[in-house]
Amino acid sequence: MVDGGFTEHIARYRTVREQIERAALPLATSVDGRTFELQASLHDLALRRGGYVVLETERGSWLGQITELSSRSVRADIPSIGSSTSTVLVRLAVGEGLLLDGGVPVHDARVRPARPEEVDRWFARSRPDRAQLTVGELLLAPGVPAVLDSGGLNRHTFMCGQSGSGKTYSLGLLLERVLSETELRVVVLDPNSDYVGLGRVRAGADPTLVARYEGVPGQVAVWGTGPDAHRELRVRFAELTSSAQAAILGLDPIRDRDEYAVLADLLRATEQGRPLISGPHELMQSESPTARQLGMRAANLGVLDWGVWARDHPSLLEDLRSPSSRCTVVDLGSLGTMEEQRLVAEAVLSTLWNLRHSRTPCLVVIDEAHNICAADPSGLVSRLSTERAVQIAAEGRKFGLYLLVSTQRPNKVHENVVSQCDNLLLMRMNSEADLADLERLFSFVPAGLVAGASSFRMGHALVGGKVFPQSGYVRMGERVSEEGGADIPTSWARPRSG
Ligand SMILES: Nc1ncnc2c1ncn2[C@@H]1O[C@H](COP(=O)(O)OP(=O)(O)O)[C@@H](O)[C@H]1O
Ligand SMILES: [Mg+2]
Repeated sequence: MVDGGFTEHIARYRTVREQIERAALPLATSVDGRTFELQASLHDLALRRGGYVVLETERGSWLGQITELSSRSVRADIPSIGSSTSTVLVRLAVGEGLLLDGGVPVHDARVRPARPEEVDRWFARSRPDRAQLTVGELLLAPGVPAVLDSGGLNRHTFMCGQSGSGKTYSLGLLLERVLSETELRVVVLDPNSDYVGLGRVRAGADPTLVARYEGVPGQVAVWGTGPDAHRELRVRFAELTSSAQAAILGLDPIRDRDEYAVLADLLRATEQGRPLISGPHELMQSESPTARQLGMRAANLGVLDWGVWARDHPSLLEDLRSPSSRCTVVDLGSLGTMEEQRLVAEAVLSTLWNLRHSRTPCLVVIDEAHNICAADPSGLVSRLSTERAVQIAAEGRKFGLYLLVSTQRPNKVHENVVSQCDNLLLMRMNSEADLADLERLFSFVPAGLVAGASSFRMGHALVGGKVFPQSGYVRMGERVSEEGGADIPTSWARPRSG
């Protein structure tokens, strides 16, 4: 049996501890007028990481954002029964934050959650006078629109989140807004046929959004081989860069330099101004034994069977040179082989790069970027597409080439691409190692906010960088166009009858 005195002691301990914990007022101190530290009671905690607060003193009030929030145990000595003292362990919420307008140093300012209209006022004031991309609402200030600055897309953007976090849905939504609110040209490398519905308005879409989308469907051209395609996805061998032509035939300029040189000569040779050989099929028919040898090589690699060769069809690359539509969706997913997908991705990036002097602003979207600009590319063609993406990341901006790369594996994307991104769209991400990498690479976003992405739900995003006045959490809104590439239905999981 438990001793009655001991039980009483425990009860008193608990009461005293709770009294101390509850007495911890939500208070903040800022030494530099820019960042603050806060403490609050864990009982009835109304503050959230990423949430907006107002710091109030007699001298005024300031809007702030909590960037870090955790619980901490501290020891407190209290007079015990009789004359001795006891130590209790009390737990408090402690955190850090930013004053959004910069304030003055304050000590022990009272902290309260900001009202949505106070947050709205701040965001409205911070919005530049440019086309606005309303992508949803602020996650922690419901009803306040989350408005991205379209002008901020003149930087490269990195989007990541684990599978199922809502990347494809959200990227599609962002593209819709770009297409309806700006005049920016868009080219999408779409390995999963996810964006083939960008030109179709979905049934039941919000009429206001539909009205703003008017005219966009006619500006979207899907190049593919599937039922959603408007144009056949084809390229010509002769239009590829010489390194790509060689890479397709498995020729490494260093390792296979003799064959590489033969190929280069063959492709350079002309008769009456026309190229003697314009594709791998013609190698086989050539009179030159070395050309036929290269042709055999192409045949053995399966290159002659690829459906992507244009022959008489118009070529995508030609269209990129003089675009017939404002938004080009390249449905890589509809191609027969991975090799063809890699080739087309490389060819699109190279063509856009070679057109850079036209200085036509273009948003180049690369979904599943770990395949196209891989940290460790496998194969000659992937190596070329990675080199091209790295080049565009480093130098594309001054020619108006802006990347938007999306992936679920941030560390599998070439670091020279990621490190050039000045905008971050981060969706749910559980991996602590990936989050730590992102904190390091995107140091312009408060680390605590990045860490918070592990508790996101589908459709939640952390937006930071030039597109948003202040890094923060967003709940993505409604799509207006159709999503392509739907998940396979789980009809196999239906309960058996009987
Ligand atoms: N904000 C959202 N609202 C409604 N449905 C969403 C939202 N985001 C994602 N989904 C749905 O969740 C599923 C997974 O989203 P998806 O964008 O494909 O994730 P990811 O590309 O990150 O794997 C899809 O069926 C999509 O329709
Ligand atoms: Mg996806």
